[in-house]
Amino acid sequence: MKEPKKKKTKTQDRYRWVYDAIISKFYDGSMKIGLSIIGEQKLRKAVISLISPYVKHNDSILDLCCGTGTLTTTLVDSVYSDCEIVGVDLSEGQIFQAVKKKYLPNLEFKIMDASNLNFASESFNIVLISAALHEMDKSLRFRVLQEAHRVLRKKGYLFIFEHHEPSEPKLRIFYNFYLGFWEKILSHSSEMQRNIFNELKDVKFNPIDQIILDKKIFKFFQLIISRK
Ligand SMILES: C[S@@+](CC[C@H](N)C(=O)[O-])C[C@H]1O[C@@H](n2cnc3c(N)ncnc32)[C@H](O)[C@@H]1O
Repeated sequence: MKEPKKKKTKTQDRYRWVYDAIISKFYDGSMKIGLSIIGEQKLRKAVISLISPYVKHNDSILDLCCGTGTLTTTLVDSVYSDCEIVGVDLSEGQIFQAVKKKYLPNLEFKIMDASNLNFASESFNIVLISAALHEMDKSLRFRVLQEAHRVLRKKGYLFIFEHHEPSEPKLRIFYNFYLGFWEKILSHSSEMQRNIFNELKDVKFNPIDQIILDKKIFKFFQLIISRK
């Protein structure tokens, strides 16, 4: 059953415009450069290797805020070919880049607002949100998490891949120089990291694990696994 349409905010429209008009054209290149110290592919593969053990035959998987689909297309290669994978993003520009990447009958990209999904309740076994929640304010994050919860089947898994500020002083300095400083100005990263576990519980998710990606990735990233 489809949920009633909710109103989009002006902030979301502005945000979409920035991705459509500017960021989508440079997104893949800037990710490669920005993550060159770590290695973007290495990071993506590390995330996929943590997720893939949870994927079963015939699972349907939703990549929310999939961007240019780099993680989505890496994921499709690592799971069973009978799994159905859908990537959705608010930005037409980002989706335009994503569909150019790979064609497979079980992979689909759609323009859609993650806070107002056009999917029936309990449609997916797995929902993944990579590097998007830190860009959202608290109220948008809440609506996106609520939608993730609604479209997940009972006992389904939500994977959140996000920034992580390490606790070690030396690594913290490096993190703040490399990621945190910009993110603190341009995004809601610190606030998201402080509150995400409570926010997950508020929408009735059960967070079951937090994996800090290992030393080679400087512990700057984390994967939070929750269950419906
Ligand atoms: C930093 S990018 C991350 C993209 C991708 N998941 C990745 O790992 O590279 C954040 C993405 O979130 C998308 N986004 C932001 N708000 C959204 C919303 N309400 N609905 C769907 N996508 C949204 C943006 O368009 C953008 O592509």
